[in-house]
Amino acid sequence: MKLNSIRSAILGIGMAVPSKILTNFDLEKMVETSDEWIIERTGIKERRILEDGENISKYAIEASLEALEKAKVSPKEINLIICATLTPDYLIPSLSVLVQNGIKAINAGAFDLSATCSGFIYALAMADQFIKNNPNWKILIVGAEALSRKTNWKDRTTCILFGDGAGAVVMGKSSEPEKRGIIDFILGADGSQWQLLTLKGGGSCYPPFDKRLPEDEYYIKMQGREVFKAATKMVEKTSLELLKRNNLTTKDIKLLVPHQANLRIIEYLRERLNLPKDKVYVNIHKYGNTSAASIPLALYEAEKDGKLKAGDLILLVAFGGGFTFGGALLHW
Ligand code: UT7
Repeated sequence: MKLNSIRSAILGIGMAVPSKILTNFDLEKMVETSDEWIIERTGIKERRILEDGENISKYAIEASLEALEKAKVSPKEINLIICATLTPDYLIPSLSVLVQNGIKAINAGAFDLSATCSGFIYALAMADQFIKNNPNWKILIVGAEALSRKTNWKDRTTCILFGDGAGAVVMGKSSEPEKRGIIDFILGADGSQWQLLTLKGGGSCYPPFDKRLPEDEYYIKMQGREVFKAATKMVEKTSLELLKRNNLTTKDIKLLVPHQANLRIIEYLRERLNLPKDKVYVNIHKYGNTSAASIPLALYEAEKDGKLKAGDLILLVAFGGGFTFGGALLHW
């Protein structure tokens, strides 16, 4: 295990999700699908969806304020805000700037990070590097998504999957570096398969209302089966590599907290790592796939459920469109 004398750690965590619930039964009325099919193929029962007129920044701010309170850090102490998102309120300003204003973090820099569903792990890795170079810094990381706004509600192969929500953590120097903090991470990408999962419309290639592009390209499009195959390989390889290079085995892990994209992908990984069910945290049934928000939402609820105790060794692993992938090992 490579342990620097300065380690970054999660000092506090918060979450906030819209109160509107969209169940599988609601979806049965919108597209040709069934509660049974969705549960069997994905594990999802319901997801949270923004009301008309609501924006995800509201939840990003709420989650951030809770994380700050738990960390006992004031907004003025925050040096940097990183929002991992692919669905910010606007392209300008960034979501992170709206959070900076909303929480009154008057001394913070702010930027958004675009790494799809792996965004939270990328942000953790970035914060870790900043803190190692500036040990007194406090960094707010937010994973927040409004995927319902980029979902094609006529496409049954994708609309059953996604949900909205926000999770936030405050990062700072670990006060007990021998027991708590980030150990190691892997960040990866494979752009050769980018066509399998896209949202083309609205970027600079096809600006909004560009007549060359069919309407469905203004929403998330995915070749699910191919993404599934690639995802299982990426999460297994990343998890095993992280453990191996830190001289750890799956037996050392107290909790695996994977990106919540599909229960079958999580189950595949659990079996490959030979972990019992109670060592893998799952909350996909309540929120669906919330992309960059999924890991902080799962971490928050794992701690609330008493599954995460100070000093526990946890493995985070994610993958997403691009492809991007990433993993992190840390002592909680
Ligand atoms: O976080 C970003 C990364 N994204 C992911 O990880 C998603 C990865 N992929 C998946 O989770 C799965 O591929 C899906 C859940 C999207 C689809 O599950 P699948 O088991 O791969 O189904 P499939 O695409 O192979 O489709 C099987 C059948 C098809 O019918 P035929 O061709 O066998 O007659 C589909 O048309 O199921 C049909 N189908 C549906 N039936 C009822 C597809 N969507 C639905 C639906 N309800 N919603």
